[in-house]
Amino acid sequence: MTISIAPTDHDRLLIIDFGSQVTQLIARRLRELHVFCEIHPFSAVDEAFLAAFNPKAVILSGGPASVFAEGAPRPPEKVFELDVPVLGICYGQQVMMEMLGGKVERGHKTAEFGRAFVTPEAEKLDLLQGWFTTDREQVWMSHGDHVSKIAPGFKVFGTSPNAPFAITADTDRDFYAVQFHPEVHHTPNGAKLYENFVRLAGFKGDWTMSAYREEAIAAIRAQVGDEKVICGLSGGVDSSVAAVLIHEAIGDQLTCVFVDHGLLRKGEAEEVVTMFRDHYNMPLIHADEKELFLGELDGVSDPETKRKIIGKLFVDVFQKHATEVGDARFLAQGTLYPDVIESVSFSGGPSVTIKSHHNVGGLPEKMGLKLVEPLRELFKDEVRALGVELGLPKSFIGRHPFPGPGLAIRCPGEITRQKLDILREADAVYIDQIRKHGLYDEIWQAFVAILPVRTVGVMGDGRTYDFACALRAVTSVDGMTADYYPFTHEFLGETATRIINEVPGINRVTLDITSKPPGTIEWE
Ligand code: XMP
Repeated sequence: MTISIAPTDHDRLLIIDFGSQVTQLIARRLRELHVFCEIHPFSAVDEAFLAAFNPKAVILSGGPASVFAEGAPRPPEKVFELDVPVLGICYGQQVMMEMLGGKVERGHKTAEFGRAFVTPEAEKLDLLQGWFTTDREQVWMSHGDHVSKIAPGFKVFGTSPNAPFAITADTDRDFYAVQFHPEVHHTPNGAKLYENFVRLAGFKGDWTMSAYREEAIAAIRAQVGDEKVICGLSGGVDSSVAAVLIHEAIGDQLTCVFVDHGLLRKGEAEEVVTMFRDHYNMPLIHADEKELFLGELDGVSDPETKRKIIGKLFVDVFQKHATEVGDARFLAQGTLYPDVIESVSFSGGPSVTIKSHHNVGGLPEKMGLKLVEPLRELFKDEVRALGVELGLPKSFIGRHPFPGPGLAIRCPGEITRQKLDILREADAVYIDQIRKHGLYDEIWQAFVAILPVRTVGVMGDGRTYDFACALRAVTSVDGMTADYYPFTHEFLGETATRIINEVPGINRVTLDITSKPPGTIEWE
């Protein structure tokens, strides 16, 4: 397997991953300091890799292993001979001490999981400048083994009741080792340690979005040359930002394919086509495949069957239209950094799996296409920042996520055109209400689901027998867990009245107050 190292003119920081659940957060903290860093699993880092990466500093992450385990993960010795600052965190601290001549002991007499308080020693350490805001600082510990003797050259600069070597350093060699996790929220002042570490390592903090934009454009040009690129544009933030960036780099060598499966929200297809074709002047194929998708979904009510039909048709349709572009050699994808990195797997050996959920169903292999993934260094909020940098409207960048299978999974039971039309109208009223009340940006995702039941009502003097719908709104950080949004009764009453008055076909509005887990955000 080849491990790609992103091209950049910026100084690089290398994070060697030993499998901690929170390694990604180290990268987040560093990115916030405008430092270019990459996470690579320890198993991929050897001397040749180090020479190619040429780090200006190295961080050894935490991890679940014990230095006593057979084949315990280690960085190459060379890491300590590069003459660059090294920071070891938790397991990284232990492996560092072991390799440099200290001692680690199994287990710990007192549990060391969760909150602890570190107090400083008398001697000052540059890494800790401005860190202790009081006479002790809260940190988050999570370790089984512990260091029992520090390596020659190291001194202690901070202790906690259960970790006498909470902060140690060999200032001559610029080696630092902490037992706790400065990257997590529960170490409230942890960002300060990273700030000091990159300052003393000499990083300029110049890895900004405009620098990224310039670099990414140069990299796309170098990769693609004068070949053609196709891009599946969903109208979501990631594919849109990728498309605009690539278009800026190679102009009309890029063609976007927008598949309209008939399961989009009100006005969505027009909005995407107008923006990209008219505003950005991009060559755009608007594949109107409503009949095909809705035809194949006719009579299907099982959620997984719906998803499979949509997934397969999407690939077929995309391939058909991509072929129209002619001899495209590249497929652009909005793959993000969290999809690229995966913590080291200890159960299955030190293997690295690159997730491929943005991959359009194996198309690159089928069509012999190479991938262009200009966002693979970025986190979601950085993609949003890049979108703003590229001039995409803020309202577009801040849109709630919308699933690939679209309204199909918000229409439990059989999908009919009538239900889809009703759903589109109800959803538009609901989102309009949320915007009018200034709540849109507080909510991670909001939508209406149309229920597969009809209920009796009375409007004017007449009896109605129409569909019921459910309002869903959640708060979330990453969509993995979610809580329902606590609307006021006033908002709910007003919204229900508007939907029933303005949307023929709905005579009852309910509210979904399920969190995730146990529910999921979508209904199917
Ligand atoms: P669930 O329903 O699993 O959704 O709690 C979590 C987040 O993922 C979105 N979602 C999808 N996005 N293709 C997508 O691109 C899908 O098949 C899909 N299913 C769910 C969902 O909208 C929410 O933001």
